[in-house]
This record gives sequence, structure tokens and C-alpha cells, in this order.
Amino acid sequence: MSDIAKLQIGEKTYEFPLVKGTENETAIDIKALRGATDGVITIDPGYKNTGSCQSAITFLDGEQGILRYRGYSIEELAEKADFLEVAYLLIFGELPTKEQLDKFYADILDEAIVDDDIKKIIDAFPKNAHPMGVLSSLTSALTAFNPSSVNVDSEEDMYKAIVKIMGKFPVLVAWTLRKKQGLPLHYGSRKLGYVENILTMMFQKPNDEYDLNPIMINALDKLLILHADHEQNCSTSTVRIVGSSHAGLFASLSAGISALWGPLHGGANQAVLEMLEAIKEDGGDTKKYMGKAKDKEDPFRLMGFGHRVYKNFDPRAKIIKKAADEVLGDLGVEDPILDVAKGLEREALEDQYFVDRKLYPNVDFYSGIIYRAMGIPVEMFTVMFALGRLPGWIAQWREMRLRKEPIGRPRQVYVGENLREFVEIDKR
Ligand code: ACO
Repeated sequence: MSDIAKLQIGEKTYEFPLVKGTENETAIDIKALRGATDGVITIDPGYKNTGSCQSAITFLDGEQGILRYRGYSIEELAEKADFLEVAYLLIFGELPTKEQLDKFYADILDEAIVDDDIKKIIDAFPKNAHPMGVLSSLTSALTAFNPSSVNVDSEEDMYKAIVKIMGKFPVLVAWTLRKKQGLPLHYGSRKLGYVENILTMMFQKPNDEYDLNPIMINALDKLLILHADHEQNCSTSTVRIVGSSHAGLFASLSAGISALWGPLHGGANQAVLEMLEAIKEDGGDTKKYMGKAKDKEDPFRLMGFGHRVYKNFDPRAKIIKKAADEVLGDLGVEDPILDVAKGLEREALEDQYFVDRKLYPNVDFYSGIIYRAMGIPVEMFTVMFALGRLPGWIAQWREMRLRKEPIGRPRQVYVGENLREFVEIDKR
């Protein structure tokens, strides 16, 4: 293939260079388009054909169902690594040595204290506030308690901001849950590992010890790893675009959390469980809901199915389905909605509508079933997703700043009124 793309507009032909990725992805570099053509731009709502950046963090091939972080397969990482190692890998580009990982965690623990005044903000929220709204606000509030901006030319400054948020974010997540449950807030313990601390801060009762269950630690580690990054999805693009204005890391993350909340993105894990529950309550008639999902007059969609990029099995869904069986078995939990989910999956995979559109289960089809077996309330599911995605957002923000990317500012094709004269109010 030549390394030039030709574009003909009217009589004129323009040439644009092709950009190649390390996995042979090809893009047309149109940076010079508008200038060269006297104002012509491209339009691509939803950015289905638009690469917003060059990135060395995550590779995903939606046709073949491949996902890799920094070159390592998601299957191998989920099996062999823990979440903190994966976080280090995503952010800094290489798997840490034992010393690097120990130092990273010690630095995180030094920052795992949240200013006590944050409690006043939490107290002001009604108990029934959605945890994602609370988490996004609290993350934004961190900027008020940590006002200094990050000097991106200083490795040390960047590192400090990263360990700060890696330390404080799990505390905010746990406090969001405890506030909902009316429990006193918990600061965790320096003696525990990252994921152990999260579970303890979330679940320890004020009058009791908390017995850490290795099955729960392992399950949460795996879920967080599987959610840790997914290249330029809606929330990650939000973090990058907000950060591109040189807004701080915490402000950029807060925007990412809001983007993740929507049911077409991270909010799908809550929506899936609510859907499975509703189907079960309705007598478990999966055929009826398959019919609704295919009916274009009906707004119902099969939540947890379909993906913008995967047109094959989401590799994360395969790992999570297996883990759901194992975790529920190990915890001795029998959940009838697991059967509803499996029934729906079986039918969808054989149904022509889903086959034609290449709709497969995505990461969130089975994740909620595991979270529920772990005792995590449904409204917290997307918060758990945010906790997993944190290192990915940080890595993408860091990469964007280090590459000195310009401010994100798309153009538009204006389709409104042409110039018209103002009409006085009494004449309208
Ligand atoms: N149920 C029924 N039909 C669906 C579904 C679904 N879950 N998903 C897509 N379709 C259909 C669409 O109606 C459309 O049909 P048409 O061609 O006849 O008009 C076709 O499949 C293509 O769908 P689009 O919406 O154009 O695909 P897009 O890439 O824009 O959307 C999305 C992807 C948002 C994930 C979509 O599949 C969806 O809404 N799924 C359910 C929500 C969900 O699970 N989201 C989580 C995604 S994973 C994540 O963010 C972590």
C-alpha cells in the first residue's frame, strides 16, 4: 500500500500522508486538510472513524477480540498480575520490579489520607444521592484541598499528583458507600495491600473485625484489572480533552467519572443487573425481552450487549463469565439471575438480529453478578468501574500532557439560520 491518501474535491486532488501504528493500523493524517483546501473539514459524529491521538498504552482489536495493556495480553495480566502492578504498568509503561512496586505503594499510602473537612461535603449529600454523582463531586472537591497545579515538565510533580489520587480515590469510593449505609467513615490501614484496604474500608463494621476473604480479594483484583483501561472510550476521551485545556488531573478525572456514569458506558453494569432482575421478576421470559430488544419501536436495549469497537467477543466478558461461576461457587452464593443472564446470552448468540449486527456480551454483562455476590450494592457498581479505570485515566492524561497535545477543540458544520434581522418583542 502506498503511504499517501488522495482526496479529490471538485477538480483538485490533495495528498495526505498515512500514519501506521505498530499493529499496522492505518490512519489518514488530515492535519493539513483545512488549510490546504480552503476550509474543508471532515465530519464524523460519535467519532466512529476518527483517531483522536497516537497512544502507546492499550491495543485493542475489536474484530479479533484482542485487548493488551502495554503489549501484555489481558488474559495473562488478569491471571498473573495484581491491580497495583497493572496500574504501574499502564501509567509508567513497564511492569515494576519488586522495589519499584514497594516504593509506589509506600508513596500511595503516604497520600491515602483525605482531609477531614471532606466529611462536611459528604454530610451535605442526601443519603439517596447516586454514588457516581457523589464520587464525581468529591473528586472535584479534591482540587480545593490540593490547589497547586502540576508542572508537567517535572517528573517529580507528575509522580506526586499520581500517587496522591491513587491514595485518596479508594478512600472516597469507600466513603461514598459508607455514607449510603450510614456507617462511620474509615481510613483503612497501612498494614493492608491496596485491594485488601479497599475491601476493609468498604465493609468493616465499627464494632467488628473484618475477615479478609482471599476469594473476594482475588475477584476484586481481577475485576479492577479488566476495567483498568480501554483506549479512547467516552470517559477516557473526556479526561484527555478536559486535561488538554491544562485543567488539573483531579478536575479531568471528575469529568471522566461523569462521562462513565451514563448507561451506554460504565452505567451499563448497573443497568444490566436491573434488567436481569426485572426479567426474573417478570417470570424469566427471556424470549419476550429478546423481542423487545429487536423491536425498533421499543426503546429497550439488551444492556451489556454490543460495543462500539468489539465486533466479536469482548475478551473481558469471557474472563468475567468464568470468574462469575468460580466466585459464586467459592462464596457458596446461588443467584438465579446468573441463569437468566446465561439464557439471554445463549439466545442472543443464536439470534439473527444479534448475529447480523455482531452484538456480543460486553465486560458489564456478568460483572454485576460478581459485585452483587460480593455484597456490593447495585448503585455502587459504576463506582467500582471508576475505581478500576482510575490508572487508565491517569496513564492517558499523563501521556497526553507529556506529548504536549494541543487543546481538544473539534469543529462543526453549521446548519442553522443564515443572518437575519432582530425583531422587536412586540412584533414577534
Ligand atoms: N440491544 C439491541 N440492539 C442493539 C444493542 C443492544 N444492546 N446494541 C446495538 N444494537 C443495534 C442498534 O439498534 C443498531 O441497529 P440498526 O443497525 O438496526 O440501527 C446496531 O445494533 C448498531 O448499534 P449502534 O447503537 O449504532 O452501535 P454503537 O457502536 O453506536 O453503540 C453501544 C454501542 C452504545 C455499546 C450499544 O451497543 C449499546 O447501547 N449497548 C447497550 C449498553 C451497554 O451495554 N453499554 C456498555 C458498553 S461497554 C462499556 O462502555 C464499558
